Amino acid sequence: MSEHVTITQDGGILTIVMNRPDKKNALTSAMYEAMADALETAHDDAAIRVIVMRGAGDLFCAGNDIGDFMTAASGGDIGNADVFRFIRLLGTATKPLVAGVQGRAVGIGTTMLLHCDHVVLAQDAKLTAPFATLGLVPEAASSKLLPAAIGHQRAFAMMAMGEAMDAAGALASGLANQIVPADGLDAAVDAAAKRIAALPPGAVQATKTLMRDRETIGATMETEIKLFAERLQSPEAREAFMAFAQKRAPDFSQF
Ligand code: COA
Repeated sequence: MSEHVTITQDGGILTIVMNRPDKKNALTSAMYEAMADALETAHDDAAIRVIVMRGAGDLFCAGNDIGDFMTAASGGDIGNADVFRFIRLLGTATKPLVAGVQGRAVGIGTTMLLHCDHVVLAQDAKLTAPFATLGLVPEAASSKLLPAAIGHQRAFAMMAMGEAMDAAGALASGLANQIVPADGLDAAVDAAAKRIAALPPGAVQATKTLMRDRETIGATMETEIKLFAERLQSPEAREAFMAFAQKRAPDFSQF
């Protein structure tokens, strides 16, 4: 369990809230563990019809905790770390996932949206996936899912060059269903979740399963995880993490 993840159930709706607003909901190992446990519970519990992902405070999620990245970088094999357990469960989820996003979604905050089936954005939502600028590679099958969704060039701009996509861009490229004013986000997410929860669950889950190419997603994730674990220990990543910790711009000129 993690004090920084709040899980509630209301009828058939399981809501997972990343709840570490003072650190912009940056995800720690304990938070991934709690979220992975919740996904497993939802998978096994027929009463749960839909899973909602939210972030507490002014933004959705600042991605992986960079301090945790630095610890992982010195810890050897991380292939079975909680982060990858969570990611693998996203790729095999059968229950529909709904996300409500306000403010920034960074790294896995953005790539988890690619596994959601219904995404509601507040007007101020801004999606980034700055993997290469952190010395890393994309994860959660985003190296294939994002270019498939928005085209290679725009995906390269995001994942290699660190460019952001705003709410309008996400809606236009099919990554989101709707944009609402920030103060309407809770109601819009709630309405979408209730609507999906009222549908015939077997048909909805079968439809989702047909739409998602789980085999390719799973294989892509494993390839990414291997590279990601290698990159985490690279001098480039170390420089990026140190720069973040020291609140300065990274300097990759030495590589
Ligand atoms: N890991 C660890 N701590 C993080 C974090 C992360 N991914 N993101 C934010 N924090 C911490 C900051 O260090 C800061 O801590 P402090 O108050 O002890 O100094 C606190 O959260 C607030 O962050 P701050 O940067 O002041 O907030 P902001 O609103 O100005 O900016 C972000 C928000 C998300 C744009 C910015 O925090 C950021 O770029 N974070 C890193 C995102 C990232 O690269 N994630 C990895 C993706 S793979």
